Amino acid sequence: MLAGKRILLIVSGSVAAFKAPALVRLLRAEGAAVMAILTAGGARFVTRETLAALTAQPVHQDLWAAEESIGHIKLARWADAVAVVPASASMLARMAQGLATDLASTVLLATRAPVVVAPAMNPAMWEHPATRANVAKLLARGVRFAGPTSGPMAEPESGPGRMLEPEEILAAIQALSGPQPLAGRHILVTSGPTQEPIDPVRYISNRSSGKQGHAIAGALAALGARVTLVSGPVIQPDPPGVEVVKVETARQMLAACEAALPADAAICAAAVADWRVAQEAGQKLKKEPGAEAPTLAMALNPDILATLSTHAQRPALVVGFAAETEKVVAHAQAKLARKGCDWILANDVSADVFGGEENTIHLVTRQGVEDWPRLPKSEVAARLAARIAKAFS
Ligand code: CTP
Repeated sequence: MLAGKRILLIVSGSVAAFKAPALVRLLRAEGAAVMAILTAGGARFVTRETLAALTAQPVHQDLWAAEESIGHIKLARWADAVAVVPASASMLARMAQGLATDLASTVLLATRAPVVVAPAMNPAMWEHPATRANVAKLLARGVRFAGPTSGPMAEPESGPGRMLEPEEILAAIQALSGPQPLAGRHILVTSGPTQEPIDPVRYISNRSSGKQGHAIAGALAALGARVTLVSGPVIQPDPPGVEVVKVETARQMLAACEAALPADAAICAAAVADWRVAQEAGQKLKKEPGAEAPTLAMALNPDILATLSTHAQRPALVVGFAAETEKVVAHAQAKLARKGCDWILANDVSADVFGGEENTIHLVTRQGVEDWPRLPKSEVAARLAARIAKAFS
């Protein structure tokens, strides 16, 4: 799939640089030509000789080297895709600022090729507001993120910031080199349950796993869309290349969705709690000896799908889900009309779906109904993303 593609690999300074040579081998096995740029930091962790031997090309290090002084433009033009593996916090910051202080950052500023980064850093650095802001900026600019994931670090600690494995980064580079029909589109996706507090320690929620919504966000990003994923509390990992906004309540989810507008499309896959507790207790509710069980008065939550469907900044395509156990299509058609959205993915939940791996979908639009076979949630996501790409083509 990468046969004949020219991949420019930028290796910046992180311990995870030791995995870069393995990625070079995988890329070349796929038929790609690979040229490497090694930053000063990167050279602390992997040698020029290793990269030169595996790429079978000279390794570029110095913006000012005699043979490289005009090299940055040539390198930038040579690449079909640029992969920054590993991308250190400093590298992301230079990219976000548009700094051209060394060969790597100068090439990144000069290239028009798609760029994928595989961040690798300590969890505290990944979670620092400065890095969060840099990541948001780069995502908005169309830079694709492969990871990071959570796991053991070089230091004896664990958390988000661990670089993906070379095989996973290869997949991200392949996706980048594949068709990108949704490039330039911004798509909002909601996913997961909401949690509605009763008091500081208790809440009402549901069993949504977020698997389907997260898979949809990932599938849309793989087709080149800029995706904002507004997610309730889930254990799903953040999909690669997606900006994730984490919320708890329905009202927070609506606020995050409105803040993410304008968007070309909105996909509401979250299982939003229909009701919240009207008066959240400021202190933990105590059971007094002999007292009756408390009665919770409920209030109606905002309907995010319906709100987006009638919003002043309504996305051109608004898609909802319907979980039904009977008269699946008829109920979905009624819901489509009631909510004012464009498509409903009606989900037959008479079978085990919540937290499961598969879904049976009927795509209900104003034009008619498409019956999809029972499919893994990842396949449902890929089909929906392809369908959305077709709608925008
Ligand atoms: N939805 C939403 N905000 C809510 C409730 C639902 O955005 N407060 C969205 C969901 O993300 C989903 C669709 O609306 O896309 C589901 O509609 P809903 O009316 O909740 O229907 P069901 O959950 O399918 O069930 P029922 O019809 O029994 O209410």
